[in-house]
Amino acid sequence: MSPRSNNHEHEHRIAVYPGSFDPVTFGHLDIIRRAAKQFDQLIVAVLNNTSKSPLFSVDERKKLLADVTRDLPNVEIDSFRDLLVRYMRSRQAQVIVRGIRSVTDFEYELQMASTNRQLDEGIETVFMMTNPKYSYLSSSIVKEIAKFNGPVQDLVPPAVEAELQRKYTPPKENSN
Ligand code: PNS
Repeated sequence: MSPRSNNHEHEHRIAVYPGSFDPVTFGHLDIIRRAAKQFDQLIVAVLNNTSKSPLFSVDERKKLLADVTRDLPNVEIDSFRDLLVRYMRSRQAQVIVRGIRSVTDFEYELQMASTNRQLDEGIETVFMMTNPKYSYLSSSIVKEIAKFNGPVQDLVPPAVEAELQRKYTPPKENSN
């Protein structure tokens, strides 16, 4: 055993990346890829929020996330409807991962991280700066463009683009 060996060295580091992911964008995917390298396991957790009216159902969002992360073996897709810190405890996760795009994000994120810290001091929030390439990008912007049939191929993976098209294409009228 090396002199540096201790329990921490064998600790399985589980992080949770929570969010709405309605739908997942290249900005999210960039954070997922980078966070997956920093932890033994990364759980991407979709909030099942009954008070919001999302474009994609939780199952659809989970399916898209699973599809675009299938090459990442230590990434798991899940959903939760509880307080985040409670969900974290149920998954034995110690770290919350959030991406920050701007100073505006920072204020909201600081409030959320401080709340979570107040609820459970044992849980740490780690922020990753979004790739500047995606600093303007959000799920809402993507939906806005897709709604007007604009190009979203630089903003979301192809599977998401296809699903957006399906959502916003009016059903063909039966010509018979
Ligand atoms: O992608 P979003 O919508 O910015 O994600 C927000 C999310 C899901 C991380 C946040 O709303 C959340 O954690 N909700 C669960 C309820 C909770 O624990 N709230 C207390 C922290 S403010």
